Order: sequence, then structure tokens, then C-alpha cells
Amino acid sequence: MVTKGIIDKLYEKNYLNEEEMLYLLDNIDEENKEYLRVKALNVRTKYYGKKVYLRGLIEFTNYCKNNCMYCGIRFSNKNAIRYRLNAEEILSTCRKGYELGFRTFVLQGGEDPYFSDDIIIDIISKIKNYFPSCAVTLSIGEKSYDSYKRYFDAGADRYLLRHETASKKLYESLHPNMSFENRIKCLNNLKKIGYQVGAGFMIGLPNQTNEDFVKDLMFLKELEPQMVGIGPFIPHKDTPLSDKKAGDLNTTLILLSIIRLLLPKVLLPSTTALGTINPKGRELGLLAGANVVMPNLSPIEVREKYSLYDGKICTGEEAAECLICLKNRIESVGFEVDMGRGDNIDWERKS
Ligand code: 5AD
Ligand code: FES
Repeated sequence: MVTKGIIDKLYEKNYLNEEEMLYLLDNIDEENKEYLRVKALNVRTKYYGKKVYLRGLIEFTNYCKNNCMYCGIRFSNKNAIRYRLNAEEILSTCRKGYELGFRTFVLQGGEDPYFSDDIIIDIISKIKNYFPSCAVTLSIGEKSYDSYKRYFDAGADRYLLRHETASKKLYESLHPNMSFENRIKCLNNLKKIGYQVGAGFMIGLPNQTNEDFVKDLMFLKELEPQMVGIGPFIPHKDTPLSDKKAGDLNTTLILLSIIRLLLPKVLLPSTTALGTINPKGRELGLLAGANVVMPNLSPIEVREKYSLYDGKICTGEEAAECLICLKNRIESVGFEVDMGRGDNIDWERKS
């Protein structure tokens, strides 16, 4: 009964304090989980109807100077087969995506010093020039305010930078030579510049507790990002966390629903990682309040090399095949695919 009351408050006020949030996470049972899910689904339907937005993900480099403990493309992984796509290859991937109907391209890569700001800006300008109706999302890690500003001025619309975990202690144990404060500063800078910003975290990291999730949720509420990406941690065989357990479906679904109620209009992907830990994971994510899916457009030859975690789905499928499969999956649970830019409904670009 108490738990149900907390869910009602979250639904009505889009807010819970830390104690209530922790109580909810500690005590939610099957019945309340379903109650929460239906509320989250109501809210997403109120703002976004049955639409699911698709983003074409282009993984353009798996070189990375960082050494995140969980990640398969970390600098120290000598088994990773490294690759880079050049500007031409990126553009031809966009062209293929455009023909399939995509109107958002997400350029994602490791923190690869080869791609100077000038090269990134050249790529952004070319994409915006050839495909003016498309949104460009960057996901290339921590940069200076000045670099972020230059990418924005070149036409980048959105930026994904998961905070990974809002627990400073956990963050620092997973990210050698990186600082939690800088991560948060980057997110604030991106907001200040005027990007649609995506933060987010992993679920089921070693030693992660419900108290840590409370920190994540409070942080998201305060930052108010336009997008939130969350997904289960999945071990990768060539990382120090290879023998750890993956995050679980149930917790991820509960957190998706809570985020939908905290930030009602947020763009919330049902992630590939969720589809990897369970064959119906992405469909269940949509039913829990998610409204975005990010299929992979990267050329088939490089797909397997962008291996952040083991078992990643959709690495063997051509973009067109994957798109048909995904459409069927989305429709199978009563939603409809929207290939438009799919901006956050509160969004208006200034300048
Ligand atoms: N399991 C799940 N997600 C991962 N990411 C990186 N490595 C893993 C892993 N082993 C996520 C991070 C990153 C995003 C691009 O992928 O959250 O921000
Ligand atoms: Fe990619 Fe099914 S969604 S192959």
C-alpha cells in the first residue's frame, strides 16, 4: 500500500525525495512493478502516442584513449581489432541510412585523438549540408567547452554523454584517470551551449546498490536532460570485469519506468544492451516507458569490432534487414515506427 502511494506521488508530481525513492526501489513487488509500468506507459502515450523514434547509429571509431573497466574497447585491450571510418565512409553510411528513411544520425566512437576538432567539424558540416533535414547526434566523450561549442556551431544538434553512475566513489573505481567532476561539468557545458543532451547510467555494475540508483535518479531530475540512455552492464571477456554478473532485466525495466515518470517528456531508448540480456528486452523496454530505438547503421565489416560487451545483438545483419526485424518487433507490442527527426517535444533550437 505504501509503495503504491509512492508510485502515485511520482506519477502526479514527477518527483520523489531520496527516502521515498530508496523505499520504492527496496520494496517494489511484482504487483507494484506492473502498476508502475502501466503509469509509465500512460505518460509516454500522453506525450508521444504510440510513436517509437529510430536513430541510425554509426560507430565510426573503436580507438579509445580511456580505460573504463567495463568496456571492451578500452585502451588496454590488446585483443580489440581497431578500426576507423573516414569522412567518406561515414557519409556513405548516412546516405544508406537516409535512403532507408533515417533522419537522425548518431555518430558514436571511442575517445580517439585521431579525430581532431577540425575533422569532426568537417564531418558534421558535410552531413548537415547533404542532409539538411536530418539531426546529428554526437557521442564522442569528454571535450572542452570550446570544442563542444564548435561542433554545435557546425550544426550538431544533440550530444550523448552518459554520466555512467552518479556515485563519485563507484565512478572513480571504474574510470582510471578520469574525474567525476569533469564528467558532470561536460554535461552542464553541453546544456549551456544549447544541445539536446543525453545523460544516463549502467545497471548492475559490480557493487552498485539501490542507494547508487537513487543518486542517479536525483542527478537526472536535477540535470533535466532531453534524453536518457540506460542499460544493463554486460561483462566483456577482455576486461577486468570479465567474471562479473550482468545487470538484470527486472531492475532495468523498473528504472526505465521511474525515469519516464520523473522526466515525462524525455527521449528514452530501449537499448541494444537490454535486447542482448533478453531476447524480448527491447520490446519490454518500450512497454515500460521507453520511446526510442537506435539500430546500428555501421558497415557490416566493422560491426563486430565495436564490441563494448559480449553477445551484442544485430552485429550480423545488414541495416535494411535489421530495420525490418526491428519494425516487426516494435509493431508486435502495439507501437508504430516514426522515422522523423524526433526531437524532444519541448525542444526549440536557439541560434
Ligand atoms: N556493458 C553495458 N554497457 C556498456 N557501455 C560500455 N561498456 C559497456 C558494457 N560492458 C555503455 C556505456 C557507454 C555506452 C556507449 O555504452 O554506458 O556510455
Ligand atoms: Fe537488428 Fe532484429 S533488430 S536484427
